[in-house]
Amino acid sequence: MDNNIVWHHATVTRERREKLNRHKSVVLWFTGLSGSGKSTLAHALEEQLHQKGCHTYVFDGDNVRHGLCSDLGFSTDDRKENIRRIGEMAKLFVDAGAIALTAFISPFKDDRDNVRKLFDGDDFIEVYCHCSIEECEKRDVKGLYKRARAGEIPHFTGISSPYDVPENPEISIDTENKKLDECIDQLLEALVKRGILPQ
Ligand code: ADX
Repeated sequence: MDNNIVWHHATVTRERREKLNRHKSVVLWFTGLSGSGKSTLAHALEEQLHQKGCHTYVFDGDNVRHGLCSDLGFSTDDRKENIRRIGEMAKLFVDAGAIALTAFISPFKDDRDNVRKLFDGDDFIEVYCHCSIEECEKRDVKGLYKRARAGEIPHFTGISSPYDVPENPEISIDTENKKLDECIDQLLEALVKRGILPQ
């Protein structure tokens, strides 16, 4: 670390941005298997929040891996770095007064916990998209499970690489059995209850 770097304090603070926006900022960290509905939920929730006048941004695994994280693969170390970068990025967005929604498998508990540590208690909301591997594999929206089973994709989460189920997520959503609308209602209610959105 370079000791000649001095942190610059902005006069426009997070509190002032939140007041201007009329909502709190937060990160909603969606985690779950590929095909469990993370991106679908994050984008559908963002649509609702946007219509309510909220400042939002969705970070999506497949998109971010084309740019910011295009140098990373799916080894344990690369996933760790992927999640670290997104965590730091989400932290900047929370400081910017936004509701940041991140949709990454983020399979390892340690990596998720390291991101959690970047935030003050209430600013990090882990949202577990609970869907069985059987159902994800049945959906196989991108055809990747089939290829992973055929041995064409190494370290595929749920097949040849583990997924640590969150032990104590702030929100757990049954994306296997619930309709999209019900999931979004559950999330909106949770945001009101937590004082992120006004009543
Ligand atoms: S994470 O593990 O580092 O959090 P991330 O969410 O960015 O993963 O990317 C997951 C997406 O990459 C999946 O939805 C899938 O489309 C694609 N993918 C490609 N290879 C793999 C793999 N080996 N394991 C899981 N997903 C993969």
